[in-house]
Amino acid sequence: MTQLDNWLEHSKPLIPVIVIDDIRHAVPMAKALVAGGVHLLEITLRTEAGLAAISAIKQAVPEAIVGAGTVCNAKDFQCAIDAGAQFIVSPGLTPELIEKAQQVQSHLDDPWQGVFLPGVATASEVMVAQQAGFTQLKCFPASAIGGEKLLKAWAGPFSKVQFCPTGGISQDNYLGYLNLPNVICAGGSWLTEASLLNDENWAKVESRARDIIPAIS
Ligand code: 3PG
Repeated sequence: MTQLDNWLEHSKPLIPVIVIDDIRHAVPMAKALVAGGVHLLEITLRTEAGLAAISAIKQAVPEAIVGAGTVCNAKDFQCAIDAGAQFIVSPGLTPELIEKAQQVQSHLDDPWQGVFLPGVATASEVMVAQQAGFTQLKCFPASAIGGEKLLKAWAGPFSKVQFCPTGGISQDNYLGYLNLPNVICAGGSWLTEASLLNDENWAKVESRARDIIPAIS
């Protein structure tokens, strides 16, 4: 059982992909998501406020499992860990990221207990990730590269790999993904769409999280 499996025992299998523009939104948003049963929160490093949001949530919302998203290089990987990120998500996988992930996970003095979820979009990238020791991968941008059909096709050659599809996942189609046997969880931005954050509509964020139901199969 992996760390991600452990975390998902205590959370709905949907990871919101979050863009924080205003740091004051971070904690009330995280509390709303956790109240709705969604505990794994991916804060993207697409905005200045991203790292500060990770730290703020880590301190104020202990029930949340906070990760960093859109991590594209080793420097951002380290900054995310320093800010308190428990998991790191990348849209892709580079030699630099492989080296960094292996380095932080094997460092004897201060082994990082977190999870690295690299992104893949082709069979060759799945093979590179597997060779580097990663068997739980983000599939990105899932709907644009084949969606459920692609993931079904990958189940044959990559039977030991589990995927977290993101990109084009919505309230209308997430269950189709979650019902696939090689899908461990899914990610999407609709739970925390910009208008809800700007309006500070935490009740709606909570109800969107509450409405998520786990896979049927
Ligand atoms: C991601 O980084 O995973 C995507 O930006 C999320 O895609 P979505 O906005 O289509 O949910």
